[in-house]
Amino acid sequence: MSEAPTSVNVKAALARRAAEIEAYLADCLHDRDIPERLLASMEYSLHAGGKRLRPVLVLSFVRLIAGAGTGLGKRVLPFAGALELIHTYSLIHDDLPAMDDDDLRRGKPSNHKKFDEATAILAGDGLLTEAFTLMLTCMDDGAVPAERVARAAQAVAVAAGAGGMVGGQALDMEFTAKDGVSFEELRGMHAMKTGALITVACVAGAVLAGAKLCQVRHAREFGRAVGQAFQIADDILDVTGDTATLGKPAGSDERQGKTTYPSLLGLDESRRLANECSAAAIAHLESFTGEEADFLRALARYIVERVN
Ligand code: IPE
Ligand code: IPE
Ligand code: MG
Ligand code: MG
Ligand code: MG
Repeated sequence: MSEAPTSVNVKAALARRAAEIEAYLADCLHDRDIPERLLASMEYSLHAGGKRLRPVLVLSFVRLIAGAGTGLGKRVLPFAGALELIHTYSLIHDDLPAMDDDDLRRGKPSNHKKFDEATAILAGDGLLTEAFTLMLTCMDDGAVPAERVARAAQAVAVAAGAGGMVGGQALDMEFTAKDGVSFEELRGMHAMKTGALITVACVAGAVLAGAKLCQVRHAREFGRAVGQAFQIADDILDVTGDTATLGKPAGSDERQGKTTYPSLLGLDESRRLANECSAAAIAHLESFTGEEADFLRALARYIVERVN
């Protein structure tokens, strides 16, 4: 078995893969009749950068299951890109004054600061809805078997919806400034607000590649563990990171009285749990070998070592 890339290599590999997504996203909204200011607002946030983690996971699971060189990676790009539209929408709404009230995102003024609140709300709505148009284009001309696309899109709808990301954000707001939030409640909220979309990126990639049931299960368990590790790391970075490196305001959680892993368990225990989740994710890939599996293992480690 080839050796897993180091954390330096994983950054380069991630950047290479993100560039592929970037190229797709560049004009993915251009053949629509979107009013100028709304399109500008949608593209402002979509093209502001970001790690592109969720689409990278889609493509990586496609290649893990189907093998590289099948051309399927290119054909599922609209699906992978769609997850970035949904994620970007969630960030625009997350920053609104009624939610986390943050003025900086991806190193630039938040959408509602650059435009206005109404435009930011509608840009989010637009990105979410356009995402489903993009996902379903994968069925065109039989690029990807329709039944796989439908199953994957259904999974995304569930994960992004009220029982997934949106529900998690609702719990986040409910728990803000509330005393006595339990560890179990916090863990459940993380699993929904962040874990659901990361998990479905892995699951959708597997489904689009025609994975067997047991492979889909491994993808799901990997995604759940990575999602948990990812949000614990996000909470830690909110305490230990600086605004310039993060590209979003450091200390936002404490300022607002959010219940987070560090606020509930302290930094050391939070780091231990993040590492435990990362190791659990890697264990779920035990049955996979090759370059793509090595990349995913390295990615699971990078997620807890990252600085932004
Ligand atoms: C930030 O997500 C919001 C969370 C779900 C923790 P990312 O850290 O993936 O943000 P970008 O896409 O790189 O900006
Ligand atoms: C947001 O969690 C999760 C989303 C669904 C957007 P946070 O509120 O911690 O994300 P950041 O720190 O603002 O990126
Ligand atoms: Mg938030
Ligand atoms: Mg926030
Ligand atoms: Mg955060």
